[in-house]
Amino acid sequence: MDGNGRWARKRSLPRHAGHRAGVKSVREIVENSARHGVQYLTLFAFSSENWQRPEEEVGMLMSLFLEALRREVKELHKNNVRLRFIGERDRLDSKLNEKISDAEAVTAENTGLRLQVAVAYGGRWDIVEAARNVAGKVASGAIDADAIDEAAFAAELQLGSAPDPDLLIRTGGEQRISNFLLWNLAYAELWFTDVLWPDFGHAEFEAALAYYSRRQRRYGHTGEQLEAVKC
Ligand code: IPE
Ligand code: MG
Repeated sequence: MDGNGRWARKRSLPRHAGHRAGVKSVREIVENSARHGVQYLTLFAFSSENWQRPEEEVGMLMSLFLEALRREVKELHKNNVRLRFIGERDRLDSKLNEKISDAEAVTAENTGLRLQVAVAYGGRWDIVEAARNVAGKVASGAIDADAIDEAAFAAELQLGSAPDPDLLIRTGGEQRISNFLLWNLAYAELWFTDVLWPDFGHAEFEAALAYYSRRQRRYGHTGEQLEAVKC
């Protein structure tokens, strides 16, 4: 979700106005995803690297997360959304952590859209954490080093048993991954748009889905092999 700051600057507003405007786009993409039957939506809200922003902006973003949770969880729950947070929670303050745990607990049994929010998340951090967990299991004798395969390793990552993303949408014009789900995005289709996150709405979402539906996903096979399976 990139481009909040530029959206604000274009309007001669402070950066936090852009972040606030971005919350509306979150609501919209959640609604659109649910309506389309998307099963998993993962939002990159705050990266491991974002801690380096000015203290005032970081503080403002943390308050905005707290406020958004206070305001939105009831409605999300009513809409059968199951919430989950991924990232380095130890770095978040206790009030926010408490709200996050509450939101997860309240919505734990919901069966609709799985909404995963990455806060204080970094793809490299995620992989190192998983490696540390696996190493701990080997050291304690719980598993054998030879038993580590891709599935066993992936199970230790933040997304755990959730499927790999099919589509990555990045707003704001940059064409890079910026340390998002490095492992899990291995075969994701990538869609980039110049639209700034606060301007991302229904039409953009539809355009991203249309792009996705035109892709042939070969996973290393040839196009001919896939055509043969279809027949
Ligand atoms: C993304 O918008 C929001 C967060 C990283 C929290 P930016 O704040 O990166 O917006 P730009 O890139 O300055 O426009
Ligand atoms: Mg940015």
